[in-house]
Amino acid sequence: MSRYHSPRGTRDILPTETPTWRWLEAKFRSLCSVYGYEEIRTPLFEHTELFTRSSGETSEIVSKQMYTFQDRGDESLTLRPEGTAPIGRAYLEHGLGSPGQLTKLCYLAPNFRYERPQAGRYRQHHQVGLEALGSQDPALDAEVLCLADQLFQDLGIPAYELVLNSVGCPQCRPAYRDALRAYFEPHLSVLGEDDRRRLEVNPLRILDSKDPECVRLGDGAPGVVPYLCQECADHFSQVQGHLNRLGIAFILDKRLVRGLDYYTKTAFEFRTASGLGSQNSFGGGGRYDGLVESLGGPPTPGVGFGSGIERLLLVLEAVGVEPQTTPSPIAFVAPLGDGSRDRAVELLAELRRQGVASEMGYGGRSLKSQMKQADKSGARYALLLGEDELAKGEVAVRDLKSSTQESWPLNEVTRRLASMSL
Ligand code: HAM
Repeated sequence: MSRYHSPRGTRDILPTETPTWRWLEAKFRSLCSVYGYEEIRTPLFEHTELFTRSSGETSEIVSKQMYTFQDRGDESLTLRPEGTAPIGRAYLEHGLGSPGQLTKLCYLAPNFRYERPQAGRYRQHHQVGLEALGSQDPALDAEVLCLADQLFQDLGIPAYELVLNSVGCPQCRPAYRDALRAYFEPHLSVLGEDDRRRLEVNPLRILDSKDPECVRLGDGAPGVVPYLCQECADHFSQVQGHLNRLGIAFILDKRLVRGLDYYTKTAFEFRTASGLGSQNSFGGGGRYDGLVESLGGPPTPGVGFGSGIERLLLVLEAVGVEPQTTPSPIAFVAPLGDGSRDRAVELLAELRRQGVASEMGYGGRSLKSQMKQADKSGARYALLLGEDELAKGEVAVRDLKSSTQESWPLNEVTRRLASMSL
């Protein structure tokens, strides 16, 4: 065994796993094209300020989890901890939208967060996600939720909950902040240092605390809804109306505030009890109407969601959903003896050039050992190239499923197999 291993909180995605990843990614991509989201790929690292500005100094991500480093030019860079801010940056940098126009983007990308690793929580995780920029319409929030819901249904995620809340906007949030401060202040002595700081700088964050005492207190804390301004209240009720009409079930949770500061109005999470233990959220998102402006752009509303691929796969594994994986090769070319090896190499190339997935027995092995290899590869046909057959211009084609064997003209093999693989 090597003395090196992958860094804590990261993992190799092995060849036995990649077919499942590709299956999931293909489902996501195909839904994105049905809903009109175009793929974007942003760099793995960005200027640190992009994240400190957008996610908020008091967020766990910025205060504790970023992989930040000075590069050789003394610039402060950060490995992408989440995908939304980079998309806001790219949107502005490349003029991907104009006022009143909708821009819909999707991505599949790794993110990096220095968290304490455990099942479903990694230091490098991957998200599928999307962002719709340019409209405040509550129907767009519903569209994003509808795509997410369809994805989870298509993948076979069992019994999950969509948890919904509104986190208001810069107009109504100050009153809610004051209400939270007034509620928690008499209990300052039981709050930890982090929570006391949250209460001072950003009281909404305290509802996200993991401290058991704070969680208990949070049960009695005021919810945001009575504090929403008319615009936010109307928006929230219209999102709910759309979800009801689309038959997408949700539950309201006054404590859902999400871990990033850019959210306004709609906030949501998808949760399940299957397979994830305490990391029960496998997707989340919401509206972020001030994000693009905070990055120096014009007022540009936006809404989106991201879902952790590792978490989705853990849920699927826990409930035994077996995704379809890559098909096995069709043919296994088996040269029998030195005289047929050159022709076997040619035949293998011919088959592959015609799109027939094929393998070959390398290394001058015996018939028996090549048949073992052919079985292991999952191939349907073994093409046995003996010197006698070759002299007659023939190949022995063994059907490994029915264990029958026929002779085919050598110059017909590729055409026949290619027509089968169509
Ligand atoms: P987030 O809730 O921080 O939101 O992450 C989205 C999802 O990524 C989570 O629900 C979870 O499934 C997965 N995830 C997060 N951290 C980890 C981790 N350490 N290990 C494994 N999986 C993880 C965002 O990142 C927002 N950018 C989502 C969004 C898009 N909001 C609007 N648009």
